[in-house]
Amino acid sequence: MLILGIETSCDETCCAIVEDGRRVIVNNVISQIELHKEFGGVKPSVAKFAHEEVIDDLINKTLRDAKLNFESLDAIAVTIGPGLVISLLVGFKKAKELSKKYTKKLIGVNHLYAHICSNFLESDLEPPFICLLASGGHTQIINVKTFTDYEILGSTLDDACGEAFDKIGRLLGLSYPGGPNLEILATSGNPEAFILPEAKVNPYDFSFSGLKTAVLRLVQKLPENYNRADLAASFQENVTNTLVKKIVWAAKKTNTKKIVIAGGVSANKTLRKKLLEVSDIPVYMPDLKYCTDNAAMVASAGYLLKDIPQDTDAMDVFAKDPSCIKLKTLLKASS
Ligand code: KG4
Ligand code: ZN
Repeated sequence: MLILGIETSCDETCCAIVEDGRRVIVNNVISQIELHKEFGGVKPSVAKFAHEEVIDDLINKTLRDAKLNFESLDAIAVTIGPGLVISLLVGFKKAKELSKKYTKKLIGVNHLYAHICSNFLESDLEPPFICLLASGGHTQIINVKTFTDYEILGSTLDDACGEAFDKIGRLLGLSYPGGPNLEILATSGNPEAFILPEAKVNPYDFSFSGLKTAVLRLVQKLPENYNRADLAASFQENVTNTLVKKIVWAAKKTNTKKIVIAGGVSANKTLRKKLLEVSDIPVYMPDLKYCTDNAAMVASAGYLLKDIPQDTDAMDVFAKDPSCIKLKTLLKASS
């Protein structure tokens, strides 16, 4: 079964074709990083405009790269939230238009569920497993029981993990996005140079705002020419230790036999290395290109959701975010 995936929830326009939820035929991403750099973060109006500018060409290119046409597709899967609503709507409208024109099934996909599914790409992973999802907007521990049945065991109480990386990156004078740039700076720093606090919250939950404030206070006290690489490395050390400790604990507590990570922060090499070192059960992680936003994971999610009636709001467990629009609401509003 061939599914075309479309993802426009934030600052990447993505289109992919995946066979049977696992085999990636084409995965195309157009990043808007250069456009948002001058704002120090994602500017929604610019994101929307940039998605609109490229989406048609990107979809056509994806089909050309795959040597396929619309007729050969079985369905179209599209991210419907959470994310920037005006950006999401660019992808949704396009997906809806194409599904009508070529009479293809339209499958609405929750972005967080899609991140979990990035682990099914080019892999034979099967549930049950425990998943650490750490992205720019969310940090969660999810008990994935079957391909479509899962329970959120814990979440961040304030900042998301990627958001904390981005904010500290900005404080260190790094350009947007902070996470990957902080990781690069940290490679030349000493992770033990600064001892930073760890939040005391329920073991399944996360909190990064205290750490952020501690770093801010520290920088205010340090001389102007303090060692930025040392601070980057110490911050990364603190965050990755917390993430690893919590997901390993959650696996033990739930008696789960596999650990999975997902979301933009799962691209962090220190996190990946530590988890492999510490865990005594198998660890699965997406290929680096599928950690950050992409449409292959959306197509994979679409494959798994293809038989679930869309009006059951099967993804409701993730839909508490106000920017997560229900597919049936979108369909009603746009028909
Ligand atoms: O999953 P994602 O691409 O988008 C969202 O759904 O939010 O995650 C983006 C987040 C950003 O905050 C970014 O700084 C962070 O993931 N990130 C990283 C790394 N690569 C991306 N954080 C730490 N280390 C990285 N290598
Ligand atoms: Zn994402």
